[in-house]
Amino acid sequence: MSDAHGGMPPRNARPFANVLEAVGWTPLIRLNRVTDGARSPVFAKAEFFNPGGSVKDRIGLAMIEDAERSGRLKPGGTIVEGTSGNTGVGLAIAAAIRGYHCIFTMPDKMSEEKVRLLRAFGAEVIVTPTAVPPDHPDNYVQTAKRIVGETPGAILADQFYNPVNPQAHYATTGPEIWEQTEGRITHLVASAGTGGTVSGTGKYLKERNPAVRIIAGDPPGSIFAHYHATGIKGEGAPYKVEGIGNDKLPSTLDFSVIDEYHTVSDRDAFGMGRRLTREEGLFVGGSAGLNVWLASRIAREVDDPDACIVCILPDTGERYLSKMYNEDWMRENRLLEPERLTAGEMVARKDGGAPALVSIERSTTVREALRLVTEYDISQLPVCDGDTCIGSVPESALMARIIEDQSALDQPVDSIMEAAFPVVDGVLPMSGVSRLLTRQCPAVLVRSDGALRGIITRYDVVRYLTP
Ligand SMILES: Cc1ncc(COP(=O)(O)O)c(C=O)c1O
Repeated sequence: MSDAHGGMPPRNARPFANVLEAVGWTPLIRLNRVTDGARSPVFAKAEFFNPGGSVKDRIGLAMIEDAERSGRLKPGGTIVEGTSGNTGVGLAIAAAIRGYHCIFTMPDKMSEEKVRLLRAFGAEVIVTPTAVPPDHPDNYVQTAKRIVGETPGAILADQFYNPVNPQAHYATTGPEIWEQTEGRITHLVASAGTGGTVSGTGKYLKERNPAVRIIAGDPPGSIFAHYHATGIKGEGAPYKVEGIGNDKLPSTLDFSVIDEYHTVSDRDAFGMGRRLTREEGLFVGGSAGLNVWLASRIAREVDDPDACIVCILPDTGERYLSKMYNEDWMRENRLLEPERLTAGEMVARKDGGAPALVSIERSTTVREALRLVTEYDISQLPVCDGDTCIGSVPESALMARIIEDQSALDQPVDSIMEAAFPVVDGVLPMSGVSRLLTRQCPAVLVRSDGALRGIITRYDVVRYLTP
């Protein structure tokens, strides 16, 4: 036994006959920083260590071998599948070695990187519209089924209804986690697309120890969490995280294995995914972020150093450089953590009819001020003397003054003026601005390049925090 790894049996100690033998036995890695001091230890199963960069490598080979065994797939045949990308890669790798052709259908919500990656493996990729119901002819799974019907020698891998999918995780992912934690695992956290990972792995772990809690995460807009809680099949809605959640119920998702189902926002999922990359050096996708965000919350709730929480990191971040790792895309989709925005950026991105800064002078009449708050539907008016804020007039003070005394309409506002708003520099992060915005201080003005550029109210921040 070489001591290159200090006596540890080195991974890949012997040569593999082909890359498929390198699938599985992915590392289990302790998370140290993103759990923000939680006492319960959290370990991440790094499925992006698989040759195709995702957990789906495990089912690619398994589904092909099953189709070969059943005689459905013959030499020189064609494999067709509807995929969010990763299953396509898992199938394409096995097909490359086994000499099959691949045709994949993929919803246009998926990243360009994934389309190019599948074409790099020699597959045909047909991009279909995302926003169609599951039974619509243009839906990616329906399109795949149609192509199978039109292509001699073609089979559908059918990951959403193929029992080989969860079986592959029952046979590999479950046993690996059990062995890597020496049977001490207390919680498994994973999110479901087909449900193969959480169902197969969960089933195995519960057979070894029924006390293991199986916890699943779900994006808002997917029907899984609601179905788990109520047994009612709801309506799907759009969301950004890829590979997980669904608007239909796959037979590969065994709800009876899952103890808890929690909805996690796109913003929290992407925010945690980016933290994993920057604070743990684990370059992952959004579904990994969702799983770790949930595992960290569970770790804090459980608050037990003897617990052993394992979560799945399904794929690599390389597939999302144009999305969750692209600041413009995150900003356009309002997914950037608010504190990462600067005051100047917040003012620049304010939409709506009002100019960035509507201000008045101390001599402005109450009537004119009222006209402005009505016309621009604003609640605060800074009173300025040139470029200096000398006071403020809230809409409520205007209303009270007029109700009190109608003749006040033609009087200057300085009689009802309240404290001036603080002025912040445009480069100030929004976290600094949020700290300033209180009941007593309902707004701040923003100065950039020496001039007042706009106003940020508490309402603006709340609206940004709740997309
Ligand atoms: C990025 C990503 N995460 C998670 C999953 C969910 O895995 P499963 O289909 O086993 O539920 C998928 C499935 O495609 C995926 O692509």
